[in-house]
Amino acid sequence: MTIMLTGGTGYIGSHVAATLLSTGQPIVCFDNLANSDASVIDRLEAITGASVPLVVGDIRDGQALRQAMTDHAVTAVIHFAGLKAVGESVAEPMKYYNNNVGGTLSLVEAMADCGAKTLVFSSSATVYGQPQYLPLDEDHPTSATNPYGRTKLMIEEMLADIAAADPAWRIAILRYFNPVGAHDSGLIGENPNGIPNNLMPFITRVAAGRLAELSVFGADYDTPDGTGVRDYIHVLDLADGHVVALDAIGQAEPALSTWNLGTGQGYSVLDMVKAFERVNGVSIPYRIAPRRDGDVASCYASPERAARELGWTASRDLDAMCASSWRFEQTLAMRNSA
Ligand code: NAD
Ligand code: UD1
Repeated sequence: MTIMLTGGTGYIGSHVAATLLSTGQPIVCFDNLANSDASVIDRLEAITGASVPLVVGDIRDGQALRQAMTDHAVTAVIHFAGLKAVGESVAEPMKYYNNNVGGTLSLVEAMADCGAKTLVFSSSATVYGQPQYLPLDEDHPTSATNPYGRTKLMIEEMLADIAAADPAWRIAILRYFNPVGAHDSGLIGENPNGIPNNLMPFITRVAAGRLAELSVFGADYDTPDGTGVRDYIHVLDLADGHVVALDAIGQAEPALSTWNLGTGQGYSVLDMVKAFERVNGVSIPYRIAPRRDGDVASCYASPERAARELGWTASRDLDAMCASSWRFEQTLAMRNSA
């Protein structure tokens, strides 16, 4: 049984790849390298000692998908491939609907043709929109505030229709909260192109002197210190969540399940800055800036359903998230200067 990882050379996909390979699970990565680099494969091979097949292709190319699924005897897919920059999705909505929604339709069509009807999909806490209550459980109403979020919602609805029409499908929708951190080796991690949108990669670049200071987007929210509160989850805990979800959907009814992957613990922007400084012995200069459009004050998960149904809970703490993020940044700097 080979598992295909669409977007397998990206940030989260590469960590799930490392975790699956460490259990001896055969995989194939399928990625168009739009936001990643083929050298991730060499580093995955260095970490795991396994050979890691990569097919460079686009999920909107059904023929390429079918060929890869047949060549590698794929029985299940974990679907990470997608575009994820909120601001860009507002400026270029067609690009997001085409890539994310169109790409996922092309993927499920190829899977149906190849008789591989087991799918784990990367969704996001963004589908909860403005929280009506906290913590967010999976029954919280869904809505979207931007095209990126709407693509996630549309895909969730499309997958629900597919599962309802054909119960042979086994589908897990995983709603990630805020993935941060990196593999313990420092060889893989989050390395966005250009100026990072997300907090943790911005902090690591300030720590490394690649950016001058962090802008804290708003200090007047209704939170303990006025800055935004989020549920940061170590990417390796997230990876473990994929392994147990895949196992669970293979065994049990119903055809489609939805789980939050979060810790249940919220930290503010300033909590993150202080923890990063303390754990890594570095300084993060920051200034308070205006609120960012579309941000909510607080967002954190109820991880209770995943604990009950999957026996999964996140175990790595904030210190581990900060230490591994910094180790990755330093390893990257060494690789770039070599
Ligand atoms: P990433 O950009 O690092 O990885 C995505 C990968 O998909 C990249 O390697 C990219 O080259 C590839 N890709 C994009 N479009 C493709 C296409 N049409 N065909 C083939 N490959 C394509 O992002 P990530 O952080 O690893 O996110 C993975 C998934 O998780 C995404 O779907 C994202 O929306 C979702 N997600 C991420 C976060 C987060 O904070 N990182 C939070 C919630 C949900
Ligand atoms: C953002 C996206 C969300 C997406 C998620 C994961 C927006 C509005 N939301 O969520 O759709 O699913 O990333 O990719 O973009 N912050 C700063 N300074 C910075 C960067 C961030 O203060 O330079 C603050 C933010 O205001 C927020 C917190 O840090 O309070 C976390 O921000 P971020 O990492 O971008 O994640 P989200 O806003 O939760």
